[in-house]
Amino acid sequence: MFRLVALASGRGSNFLEILKAIENKEIPNANFVGLITDRENTGAEQHAKNYNIPVKVISYSNFSNKIDFDKTLLETVKELEPDLIICAGYMRILSKEFIDAFPDRIMNIHPSLLPAFPGLRAQKQALEYGAKVSGCTVHFIDEGVDTGPIILQKCVEIPENCTEKELSDLILKEEHKLYKKAIKLYCERKIEIQILPNHRKIVKIKN
Ligand code: GRF
Repeated sequence: MFRLVALASGRGSNFLEILKAIENKEIPNANFVGLITDRENTGAEQHAKNYNIPVKVISYSNFSNKIDFDKTLLETVKELEPDLIICAGYMRILSKEFIDAFPDRIMNIHPSLLPAFPGLRAQKQALEYGAKVSGCTVHFIDEGVDTGPIILQKCVEIPENCTEKELSDLILKEEHKLYKKAIKLYCERKIEIQILPNHRKIVKIKN
């Protein structure tokens, strides 16, 4: 069994889709051993409770500095002994210590086709650029912002006169399918990391 730990800050719709995929055996060999949120009363917390997943709230507002927060987060996650950490709408930048502790074992989903439009409000960035397509990307987290090795991507056409909300909804529908697919591949040990001559780490999917 693969031990999954989720990190979330908000409504947790991606987290819920993964919970459902585990429940209906689409991902047969994984279990969530914990959800960690950085604030009280998130949608993600509610989903975890409905599925009897242990929740730890490490509220950022209870800490006087980021160093102590980061230390507590790292210790808490280490105690859960995860095989894979899943950022599901987690809005904080992870510390270098955290990333170093779990090399190529932290996944994230981002609502654009990286490397285009990293960072916040990627859907708005795509619209303001006049892009005709966007999409979503599941990637491993490295030290940069949305720069880690790309695992899977899905393209979405941007309709004319689309609003940020409409584009977010179109992309979110694809996110819900893509994230569980990537986690399934990981749990089937089909994800391989390669290093290119230019030192870039990339993902190869095994058959
Ligand atoms: C998603 O759009 C995801 O791509 C981004 O944050 C959003 C989280 O949504 N990283 P949810 O909490 O999974 O509903």
